[in-house]
Amino acid sequence: MKNQHIYKERRERFFAELGDSAAIIPAAVSVTHHADCEYPFRQNSDFWYLTGFDEPDAVALFLPYRPKGERYVLFVLPKESAVEVWTGFRWGTYGAVNHFDADVAYSLGELSEKLLEYLEGSESIAFRIGKHPKIEHIVLNVWSELLDRSSRGGKVPIGLKSPCPALHQLRLRKDAWEIQRMKEAARISCKSHEIARRTTRPGMNEREIQAVLEKSFLEEGARGPAYGSIVAGGHNACILHYTANNDLLKDQELLLIDAGCSLDDYYNGDITRTFPINGKFTAEQKAIYEIVLAAQESAINSVLPGQNTEVVHLTAVKVLVEGLIDLGLLKGSPDSLIEQGLYRHLYMHRTGHWLGLDVHDVGAYRLGEYPIPLEPGMILTVEPGIYISDLLSVPEGQPSIEERWKGIGIRIEDDVLVTKTVPEVLTVDALKSIKDMER
Ligand code: GLY
Ligand code: MN
Ligand code: MN
Repeated sequence: MKNQHIYKERRERFFAELGDSAAIIPAAVSVTHHADCEYPFRQNSDFWYLTGFDEPDAVALFLPYRPKGERYVLFVLPKESAVEVWTGFRWGTYGAVNHFDADVAYSLGELSEKLLEYLEGSESIAFRIGKHPKIEHIVLNVWSELLDRSSRGGKVPIGLKSPCPALHQLRLRKDAWEIQRMKEAARISCKSHEIARRTTRPGMNEREIQAVLEKSFLEEGARGPAYGSIVAGGHNACILHYTANNDLLKDQELLLIDAGCSLDDYYNGDITRTFPINGKFTAEQKAIYEIVLAAQESAINSVLPGQNTEVVHLTAVKVLVEGLIDLGLLKGSPDSLIEQGLYRHLYMHRTGHWLGLDVHDVGAYRLGEYPIPLEPGMILTVEPGIYISDLLSVPEGQPSIEERWKGIGIRIEDDVLVTKTVPEVLTVDALKSIKDMER
């Protein structure tokens, strides 16, 4: 397949991290939706990152201690016309070698037997337990058998460890190819948000806007939405993971859209925009919007090499809290409100997350006490918000909230690449100024 060299380079980097350990990385399995219907297949991101192979149930072995030509082994579903006529094309073992560059490939049925052979000579086994029940059963049985054999000589793996730290620190740092793909996901996501906003009118249903947005994802060549699109009118915007998307869009209310596309190779966009349904902010909506936008812009400016996600979060929180004090929605000094968390009934989530093959992408945020410093090539979202509802009670000593503020939920979210110098906002084509949100 095209771009196989990208996966090969990643495998080389992964081999270097593994040393003399074997790694076993399973693909995702098909998941039942109901009866005999399945959800659309979604590959496991770790497996995808190393293989570019988009079939369920496969298993990849990485064996850096084996001779050349036996280091990258794929176990795949065998070719079987009688099954493929129902569920579609499979590459089979021939395809795994000739199109996906496996050194050797076997049918899945041979996994136990071949594992016994291939794991001998490894120092330890890198396999994530608790996530792949079927494969875990096989791995543990094989390992047990190898431990039984150890008294008869030969080198057998003495430990089981997680492949995640090594693999996820690779995934956290995006190379030039990945950045290009993230820009494509951002382009499609931005374009779709623009179309959705321009389509929105009072009297429509949230799901009509969801349809417009997701139609655009598909028309532009994406696989579909990266996660359940959030199309939340009025007070629905105060529900952070609202996905019901089946309410009337009312005059004088806001619409919050949190949605992004996923590409065929699983790179994702994640954008939130909030705008007035009838094209004009009310005074209260505008006041809150201005604060969230200022918080977001300050936080984006702090996305610099050597800074960290805590700095980004605190930068946003400071602007939000100061703005809410000015509006009389919080009372006290900004520092003590922040220290005591007395703003959390209005802003209850973090300001962002890593973004990549997973929407909430892998990679540590802290190492023990120390936040991970930002480096060029890391991509994160910056997404502050303010949510004013009765869902969380006002902390003692803080002002009760007047009715005119209630039901306002605003979040603004962009995808930001850390560079050597200033941050690069990948989603800059989704407009967000007050002027652009009005018509
Ligand atoms: N859409 C999920 C998030 O913004 O984190
Ligand atoms: Mn996000
Ligand atoms: Mn989002």
